[in-house]
Amino acid sequence: MADHPNDWWRGAVGYQIYLRSFADGDGDGVGDLIGVAGRLDHLANLGVDIVWITPCYPSPGADHGYDVSDYLEVDDLFGGRPALDAVVDGAHARGMRVILDLVPNHSSDQHPWFHQALADPSSPARDFYVWRDPAPDGGPPNNWRSHFGGPAWTLDPASGQYWLHLFLPEQPDLNWRNPAVREAFADILRTWFERGLDGFRIDVAHALVVDEAFRSNPEPDVPVDEANPRAAFDSIQHLHDLDQPEAPSLYAPLRAIADEFDAFLVGEVYLFTGEGVARYVEDGLLHHAFFFPALHTAWDPEAIGRVLHDGVAHGRGRFSWPLSSHDDDRAATRFGGGADGTERALAYFAFLSALPGIPFLYQGDELGLENGQVPATASADPITVRNDGAPGRDGSRTPIPWEPGHEFGFTTGTPWLGLGPNRSDTDTAATQARDDRSPLERTRRLLATRRELRDVLASDDATWLAAPPHVLAIRRGDVVAAMNIGGPPATVDLGQPGTVVHTTDADDAGHTVGTTLHVPTDRTVLVRLG
Ligand code: GLC
Repeated sequence: MADHPNDWWRGAVGYQIYLRSFADGDGDGVGDLIGVAGRLDHLANLGVDIVWITPCYPSPGADHGYDVSDYLEVDDLFGGRPALDAVVDGAHARGMRVILDLVPNHSSDQHPWFHQALADPSSPARDFYVWRDPAPDGGPPNNWRSHFGGPAWTLDPASGQYWLHLFLPEQPDLNWRNPAVREAFADILRTWFERGLDGFRIDVAHALVVDEAFRSNPEPDVPVDEANPRAAFDSIQHLHDLDQPEAPSLYAPLRAIADEFDAFLVGEVYLFTGEGVARYVEDGLLHHAFFFPALHTAWDPEAIGRVLHDGVAHGRGRFSWPLSSHDDDRAATRFGGGADGTERALAYFAFLSALPGIPFLYQGDELGLENGQVPATASADPITVRNDGAPGRDGSRTPIPWEPGHEFGFTTGTPWLGLGPNRSDTDTAATQARDDRSPLERTRRLLATRRELRDVLASDDATWLAAPPHVLAIRRGDVVAAMNIGGPPATVDLGQPGTVVHTTDADDAGHTVGTTLHVPTDRTVLVRLG
């Protein structure tokens, strides 16, 4: 059971803002914090509790903000510190918390630390990064690859050494074996908490240290798909560059600081088993970790069942459940697109909302959005731009359609990334707010119901119920959630009568059911027993 039963994030609902694409407040085409401050009522009315904002720090933008050149400031592009203060104050006034994105695995190559490290290899800053001599043939020190294509090493000709970068060369990896790096990040955390932030989402939380001996990873048995860097990266065994045995313990000092401020840490632990992710949320480490297998499944009962059973068993209430993200296809797209994709995404989110832990919406999920269509010539993601059009992340990053009219209300200017030809007035928040059956209104009703059940759902208890193979049914206290994944209408034996409190099918909540619950195709139903 709960180690801190009063923790404010228990029973909460999260919402991810991809800042550049949420709302543009100053007309320059890039979403910003002024825009977020102006849309806080949308979030409060929706019923979310925790708002995660992707990086807002000064950055050259090689990876759209995930290359930070100053961890303690807010980029003027996003409105600077005053705009962040307005977001935090406005969110707090509406009962929501705000968490920022901490990017500790790497800085920008334009960070003063890296400038210093390059300029003076004998300076203490040199050891803030990871340097190795070339292999005997003069090539990279080992076979590690970058997530974004090519080797994970770039040569600094002046010193003759390579620097490590698990992402772009402009994102040099920080050396977390150096106590000075750990102290620098402890100070960064403390500073933001003193400024009133409520926590952090921690980027690439499973990769802060690499093998001390820099051993090569096993060579793959079959050739990797070089035209698709992310698939290539995922297809090899990362024995020595990711998820090292000592990685989780790095969070103990950061957790202690968070606890002083009653702040929350959720890690992007991008691993594929519940057991692997759970190591990072042991007592005294991260409060929570995202469980990404939940957003890698197609609409397939066997796959979803396997993943959610694994996540519930190992998460014990400490996993956050992402429906979509800025790095992956939107749920509606993943589940087949069109009206079916949207219904399935709504059903999936209703079910994730009933699991122990925190369900996270990604901006636009509440509108039932599919990926935006981005023509190849308009690509912005470095994965695509730098790898001859390789599959990238632009589709999930297109701006939010707020209302009919110029650029659907996202900006008065020209958006940095087009909204895409597949957006229409019915996708907009304004139009959906007037339609009781829209994804927005149905998500709002789900979260209102969930809030009424918060005490029940905040516990860690969960029991899977017997159900047909295409149905998942879970009991949490006196609440049962059942989801039908693509099969014929089915029934679940409840053992006792209850009341339907939410259904993603129609607005027939409130009717009583006997001991047998009917679950229509591609729908989730929530029942309160008794
Ligand atoms: C994380 C972020 C992703 C970013 C990468 C490098 O995976 O979610 O958007 O590109 O880290 O910081």
